[in-house]
Parts: sequence; structure tokens; C-alpha cells
Amino acid sequence: MAKILAIETSCDETAAAIVSDRQVLSNLVASQIATHQKYGGVVPELASRQHVTSIGQLIAAALEVAGLDWSAIDGVAATCAPGLVGALLVGLTAAKTLALVHNKPFIGIHHLEGHLYASYLSNPELTPPYLCLLVSGGHTSLIQVRGCGDYAVLGQTRDDAAGEAFDKVARLLGLGYPGGPIIDKLALGGNPDAFSLPEGNISLPGGGFHPYDSSFSGLKTAVLRLVERLRAEDIELPVADIAASFQAAVARSLTRRTLRCALDHNLSTISVGGGVAANSALRQHLQAGASQQGLRVIFPPLNYCTDNAAMIACAAAEHFRLGHTSSLSVAAQSKMPITQVMALYA
Ligand code: KG4
Ligand code: ZN
Repeated sequence: MAKILAIETSCDETAAAIVSDRQVLSNLVASQIATHQKYGGVVPELASRQHVTSIGQLIAAALEVAGLDWSAIDGVAATCAPGLVGALLVGLTAAKTLALVHNKPFIGIHHLEGHLYASYLSNPELTPPYLCLLVSGGHTSLIQVRGCGDYAVLGQTRDDAAGEAFDKVARLLGLGYPGGPIIDKLALGGNPDAFSLPEGNISLPGGGFHPYDSSFSGLKTAVLRLVERLRAEDIELPVADIAASFQAAVARSLTRRTLRCALDHNLSTISVGGGVAANSALRQHLQAGASQQGLRVIFPPLNYCTDNAAMIACAAAEHFRLGHTSSLSVAAQSKMPITQVMALYA
């Protein structure tokens, strides 16, 4: 069983972990939320600097918690795309250097493939084919998983990602950053039927709607208009009701498209990954809808939904098992489609 040490620094979490295939031996995350909170979002340069400060201690702690030294490690992995380039570079450079110094193979990992592999940590028996709903701060995609590194994108957002919509709506309600967890918590005390909000349908030229693609910018604008109207009428903002109604609209939109896509493609298992997979309304809606249709749905535990290095290590262990290792010249890239992950092992 391959033991992989992985580093994740694509955005605002510095993370290091060790897995043995699909078993987590250590998983450390240093959140930067306190650093970015006062700016209302991630400041890339501050993220890079904070990664530089934290990464060394986290790697040492990952080895210590796992009770291992370098002789037991089979490979070193790092996220190399997509993400903030300056932030990615910190983890990528650390991983390449450690691979070189300790004479271990290096495995570059696509961040979204990491989110996809989070489901294997809680459900090690999961096997393709299945459908993965990937919902993070930067991406919203329906991915047909045919095998390791073999992905087809069947649906995606045309504008804002689901997590981005949560963050923007939280900002316009004056709730702070990151918006997803704050809205989720507030929504518990609100009425999801208080306001009727659009589900972000994409019209097709010949009529009807795209079955799998979505839009979240219209939903965000609808919340903005609602807030403006209530303010103009001098009504105190019913923040919990707005949060609950917004969250329910996102959950309904994602659930409808995901179930339609799974049924159309004969995929009886759905996995969910990315920070928005932690959302309680999405979990409830999708679980209920999938059960009704006789489909199985897998949600990783909350700490594997948001950014972490265990998921990166898990994806790397699979690539390593298949003989996929990367050159030390693999670059950090801000954008890279998940369909091109095999280019990292050429
Ligand atoms: O996957 P992730 O940690 O980082 C990216 O790869 O983007 O996702 C972060 C996103 C943020 O937009 C955050 O607001 C959202 O996930 N998020 C949530 C929840 N927890 C995190 N959105 C809705 N409900 C949550 N409970
Ligand atoms: Zn992520």
C-alpha cells in the first residue's frame, strides 16, 4: 500500500497529509480565514505569504502525527492546478524539493480531482463509473467518472460557481467571509419558502432549458434586488429567511440537474465534492431526491469537503499505483480543465 505525503496550497488553506492508499494517517489544515476576513475575500499575496510561514511546520506535523519518517514515504504530491498561482507555487515548490532531497517520485495533482477523491476516503469501495457533482468556490460541474484520470464534463455553471454565489450573497447581506458556512448556519433559523428565487435555468435556442448547465449570477442578482426593495421600503432585512430561501434555491437547482444527469446516463451512484458539498440543504435535498429515484449518493465528511491535503494524497496514491508520476518541471497553473489531468503525467 502506497504511503503518500501531499501538500495543498491552492487558495486560503495550507494543508499537509499522509494517506496509505485510501486510509488517512494524518490530515492537517491551517486555515487562513482570520487573515482574509477583514478584506471580505482572499487576498492572493497574503495567501502566498501565509503558506510560506505555515508549510514547513505542517509537513513536520503530518509526519509526526502519522508516526512516520521519510523512509516510509513512497511519493510526494502537491496540487499544481487550478488555483492562485502564487499560492500553488509554495506547496508545489516544497513538494518538488522534498521529492528531490529524499529521492521520491513526485505526483502533481489537479485540485478538482482531489475533491473528487475525497469520497474515496469515506467510501474506499467506491468504483467508477459514477457521477460526481463538484461544487466549490471556483467550480460547479457534473463529471462522469469513468476511471482514474478519465473524466467527461456533462454539465457546468455558465457564470458564478455555487460557492462563489454563497460568498457574494453573504457579502451583500453584510455577513462576512467565507459566506457558505455563515449562510448555512443562519438558514437553520429561517424559512426556505419565505421568498421565491430563480433556480438559474439556461434557455436553449429552440425553447426549453439546458438539462444540466446552470447559472448562479441571476440568483445572486435576484437576492440583490430583493435586498434593495426591502431597504427602500424601510423593512428590516429578514436575513435568516433570505439565507434559507437562497440556499434552498441553490440546493433545488443542483439536485434537479444532478438527478436528471445521473438518470439520463444510467449512473446509479452520485458522489459530491467541494466546499459546497458541506451545505446542509444540498445534503438534504440531494439525499431525499436520490432515495426517491433509487440512486445512491455519497457525501464525504465535512472536513474532507472543504480544502484539505488528504484528498490530494488519496488521488496521488491512485495515480502512483497506476504508475503515473510527474516531471519536476510541471508548472503551477491558474486554470486547467479536469479532462486534461493526464497531461500532468506525460
Ligand atoms: O472546495 P473549497 O474549500 O475551496 C475551493 O476549491 O474553492 O470551497 C470553498 C467554498 C466557498 O465558496 C465556501 O463559501 C463554500 O465552499 N462552502 C459552503 C459551505 N462550506 C463551505 N457553501 C455552502 N454551505 C457550506 N456549509
Ligand atoms: Zn477546493
